[in-house]
Amino acid sequence: MSSTDTDNVQHAKRTIEGTRPIPLSSKPFPGAPALERSRSSSKTACIKTFGCQMNVHDSDRMRRMVLDAGYAEVSRYEDADIVVLNTCYVRENAVDRVRGHLGELSRLKKEGRVKKFALTGCIGASGESRDLQRQFGIDLVLGTHNTYELAEFVGLPGMEETHTPELPGIESEHSAFVTIMTGCNYKCSYCVVPSVRGRMACRSMENVVDEVRRLVASGTRYVTLLGQTVDAWRESGKKFCDLLERTAEEVPRVWFTTSHPSNMEDRTLRLIGEKETLVKKLHLPVQSGSDRMLKIMHRGYKSERYRRKIEVFREAVPDGTLSTDIIVGHPGETEQDHEETLRLVEDCRFDSAYIFKFSPRRGTEAAQLPGIPPERVAQRRFVEVLRAVEQSAFDNNQKKIGAVEEIYIRYGRNQEEGKAIGETWSGHAVHVQTDAQPGTYVTARIESAGPHVLYAGAPEAI
Ligand code: 5AD
Ligand code: SF4
Repeated sequence: MSSTDTDNVQHAKRTIEGTRPIPLSSKPFPGAPALERSRSSSKTACIKTFGCQMNVHDSDRMRRMVLDAGYAEVSRYEDADIVVLNTCYVRENAVDRVRGHLGELSRLKKEGRVKKFALTGCIGASGESRDLQRQFGIDLVLGTHNTYELAEFVGLPGMEETHTPELPGIESEHSAFVTIMTGCNYKCSYCVVPSVRGRMACRSMENVVDEVRRLVASGTRYVTLLGQTVDAWRESGKKFCDLLERTAEEVPRVWFTTSHPSNMEDRTLRLIGEKETLVKKLHLPVQSGSDRMLKIMHRGYKSERYRRKIEVFREAVPDGTLSTDIIVGHPGETEQDHEETLRLVEDCRFDSAYIFKFSPRRGTEAAQLPGIPPERVAQRRFVEVLRAVEQSAFDNNQKKIGAVEEIYIRYGRNQEEGKAIGETWSGHAVHVQTDAQPGTYVTARIESAGPHVLYAGAPEAI
């Protein structure tokens, strides 16, 4: 797995850059003519994804359109007739990286290799996109709410009436993302998401359950419910926990991300422990351990409330894994605030964390605030938080050595490293020596552990 933010983020399970395998869609894009949706097509397309799982899922929807339009997917720009860059705007270094790719695409277009390219996703929705379009000669710029317009770009009938979140996408044949809500109603000081993704919109339970059933009927074994604040989902008296429970009754394996501490109900935490089909892992971004910073950030909770949630989780799900997001170097962060973050990290014993250095984003409140700590201070704080997380993750992982675990194979054996990558029911990533296919289970003993991953022996050894 590659990271888009190696300098700024501890590790990047959630941060995926690159092209992905080509899952053929089970259901054509609505309105697509009956056509040769084949890989032997002479038309080629390359889709590159930057950013979070929402973007990965949006790319899957766009991939569906591209395949339905008769393109074969390729992984290199120079082999592609059309290119789609689906982008992230959350931190400036993500934008810098995209600028590099746009420069390369503009050159390939001038040389006549790439015919046209599109910029989609959060940069597309931002105010900066028009400047980029002029500068690099981008053929099509789309935001996050009008990805259906890509249909015309690739030669499918226009689909203006289609609300894209209702369109199923595919992560791969055995596991799938299902978007249950889009947008965000919070206004965290540092965050561009509300301005590029808009306010919260929830899909109906009926709609979600229908999609989940269709996916399971077509062979999906693992569903991840997605939303910027997934646990804020609601529909006339029903809350996220109700939807999660329904989903967990339909699918053999279920997870969800990303949650907000203010929305996370204790009954959801207990459900994770009770329901066999739920993966026992919780991603709950805290951002800071200091109440003063949490207030400046407008997070809407104090560290004590966060700690209480974690206590409930640890009690309800003793074998579960816990991850979080932390920002260091936000304007106004003092040494004492940083110490409080370190204390929270120690107390919560995280299994992993995404740690970010503050990146000022145009149009956000924090970009106007005074008191950004100097770079060397932010870097030191970053490393200190990273070490604290790695220590607790390493200690937690060591306790798994010797355990015999049922492991879901996510990615089949890699020729170079010779290991398949799987996930235990407690949500640990495991390297395992097996040729088992993605989507199947093996049982193996954990033989060793690092801070980020467990290593299992051959399943036959059991
Ligand atoms: N600077 C640094 N980190 C940020 N995040 C969001 N906006 C910024 C920013 N401006 C981080 C938060 C969020 C994660 C997805 O990205 O930790 O939870
Ligand atoms: Fe951004 Fe805050 Fe909304 Fe998360 S909850 S998407 S950090 S505004």
